[in-house]
Amino acid sequence: MNKAMKWFDDRLPIFSFLDKQLANKPAPKNLNYMWSFGSLAGVCLMLQIITGVFLAMHYKADVNLAFDSIQHISRDVTWGWLIRNMHMVGASFFFIVVYVHIFRGLYYGSYKAPREVLWWMGILILFLMMATAFIGYVLPWGQMSYWGATVITNLLSVVPVVGKSIVVWLWGGYNVGDPTLNRFFALHYLLPFIICAVVFLHLWALWTSKSNNPKGIDLKKQTDWIPFHPYYTIKDIFSLGVFLIPFTFMVFYLPDYLGHTDNYIPADPMKTPPHIVPEWYFLPFYAILRAIPHKLLGVIAMVSSIAIMFVLPWLDSSKVRSANYRPIFRQMFWLFLINVFVLGWVGANPPEGQFVVIGRVCTVLYFLFFLSLPLVSKYEKTKPLPTSL
Ligand code: HEM
Repeated sequence: MNKAMKWFDDRLPIFSFLDKQLANKPAPKNLNYMWSFGSLAGVCLMLQIITGVFLAMHYKADVNLAFDSIQHISRDVTWGWLIRNMHMVGASFFFIVVYVHIFRGLYYGSYKAPREVLWWMGILILFLMMATAFIGYVLPWGQMSYWGATVITNLLSVVPVVGKSIVVWLWGGYNVGDPTLNRFFALHYLLPFIICAVVFLHLWALWTSKSNNPKGIDLKKQTDWIPFHPYYTIKDIFSLGVFLIPFTFMVFYLPDYLGHTDNYIPADPMKTPPHIVPEWYFLPFYAILRAIPHKLLGVIAMVSSIAIMFVLPWLDSSKVRSANYRPIFRQMFWLFLINVFVLGWVGANPPEGQFVVIGRVCTVLYFLFFLSLPLVSKYEKTKPLPTSL
């Protein structure tokens, strides 16, 4: 620290905090590239906030102007096309990164003690991210924005007794309209900052319980640890470089590839599109919602498919964390991952014929993965664990 920094730090110890919590923080020496996805998620969050603020400078939250204001951003505003493409593609990449981050946690048992609260904060972030993305998709006021918002907000009407009143309160009227768009814009601006606050709690829990590692063992020897900086700062910067290759490719060459063409048709309350599909990152959950032929139970199943992860640390009582030492759990993990992809494919297709059957079978398998864990963790014969790295 130079003199000026020291003067400042004596009065507000930001630099010593960063030094202690980031640079000099000991980290397990065997973390693989799967551990880069946390910092990548942080970069995505920052990118969404920065591009979002610039979009908000030109966006108009009015049903008569919203669609055109987005076209104006893409066509007339200096660098507007780039900012909008980054925000659109960024949302998809943020979900890719966070899904990998979650599956990494599942594979290496990072949800187990002492990291349960860290895991909870993660699930809370996922719920908040989903709300933010859903609300954000309504803002361009295209056909999918309008009809997606109508279908999904209507789900709240299944809440017994007060359901219908909640929907009217949320809409600010008797259908999705101008008041809805206005409040969605306000919330879409607010939620990322709430996510930032929960990310801070997530990291606080991480600093307290320390990183897990690919072997999933508790590290007792001092030689098992290395300082975060420069070892993992370099590794994370390299990962960011690799991430930027597909990201920039999509931004420059295929910005609309992951979206739906119908959202380039202005919202028309008099014309329902033939297939209303959400963005790709919601498809597995959409498939679970539609797999159950009862509205209320479908909504309960969809919400539970994520909420069940809150109790995962107790469903899986095995003392061994990493799937590398758990032969049965490892196979279940890979089947579960494939099952989620199949659910996504089902969610992208109309709920007819074979898709109904496949959707139901995969929904049962999805929950079976979690609900069979108490038995599996009790009877599974695990491999012997190493005592140090
Ligand atoms: C905005 C979203 C998120 C950000 C910025 C974020 C950030 C981070 C960072 C920087 C780390 C440390 C590096 C690493 O282990 O990869 C981490 C660890 C972790 N995160 Fe997240 N995270 C996010 C979402 C989530 C979600 C949705 C979950 C789970 C539902 C989750 C669960 C975990 C767990 C269990 C760890 C500890 C991993 C270990 O040490 O093995 N995170 N997170």
